[in-house]
Amino acid sequence: MENTVQSSLNYYDNEPERDAFLNDVTLGLQKQAKELPCKYLYDERGSILFDKICELDEYYPTRTELNIMQTYVDEIVARLGQNVLLIEYGSGSSLKTRVLLDNLSGLAGYIPIDISKEHLLNAAAKLKKIYPDLNVHPVCADYTDLFRLPDDIPSSASRVVYFPGSTIGNFNPGDAVKFLHSINNIVGSSGQLLLGVDLKKDPNVLHRAYNDRSGITASFNCNILTRINRDLGANFNTEQFKHYAFFNPSHGRVEMHIISLADQTVQINGSTIKFATGESIHTESSYKYTVHEFTELAGKAGFTVERVWTDEDELFSVQLLRAGAS
Ligand code: AVI
Repeated sequence: MENTVQSSLNYYDNEPERDAFLNDVTLGLQKQAKELPCKYLYDERGSILFDKICELDEYYPTRTELNIMQTYVDEIVARLGQNVLLIEYGSGSSLKTRVLLDNLSGLAGYIPIDISKEHLLNAAAKLKKIYPDLNVHPVCADYTDLFRLPDDIPSSASRVVYFPGSTIGNFNPGDAVKFLHSINNIVGSSGQLLLGVDLKKDPNVLHRAYNDRSGITASFNCNILTRINRDLGANFNTEQFKHYAFFNPSHGRVEMHIISLADQTVQINGSTIKFATGESIHTESSYKYTVHEFTELAGKAGFTVERVWTDEDELFSVQLLRAGAS
């Protein structure tokens, strides 16, 4: 792990390797039902497009979560307490975090973790300007893999993982339990996890959220092919693929796919991948939960739900979990 000290901003580099990307892509595309890990949607352009999605009228989760955070922030920070070391998974632009940073007193430090180095460093530098006294320790890492926290973080602070945005929904339920287990280990017994969980709702609302009129979600999805072309020297003809997203009620999830519009072959680093017309690459699942379903899932990872806050229409929830034995 490289540790570059840049004045008061300590940066820890665990950026994923090209080989891992190549391996995941070729393995996923050689499966009978083709798939790509959704974490690869977030290169620099993907992260910018995702930020645009968050501003769309149709995409209710971001503004609804922010609204819940702003409405209940006093109660939230009271429950988190003093001397908190805030560890954010998938920090992106750290927008929602500002609500916590503005209101938590006696913060021991802030560790934003993100896979996109550019995005992470830009956001951390901006935060440093707004909160000059805050100890910010950005970590570039794939938080779904093993990663190391910086060595110089205060050991006496109570650890709180903040995981907003309902990204937990992008794990299948079995992986979500494993992932929550790993958070349980990071925060330690009686540590806390504050996270956003998207709720089950009218499928038409979900359909619109993942099929916006301006086509930003489509660009976000198909950008993964452009990334594979650029980073792995592949030759996807991106004009010959199309975004497709729908709510699958039997799995309780929105699925995002990229559909091949022709019979075609693609070369990726010496492998030839064949596509039939209409064949799909499954690029993302976004699970939606009832409060009860999520309480059960969190319980399997040793968490108890302390408090759930929702908006009036019960579109989205912010949940505070307490770690126990994992
Ligand atoms: C990051 N994640 C929670 C988003 C979601 O809603 O599942 C990603 C996304 N995919 C399409 N639109 C947004």
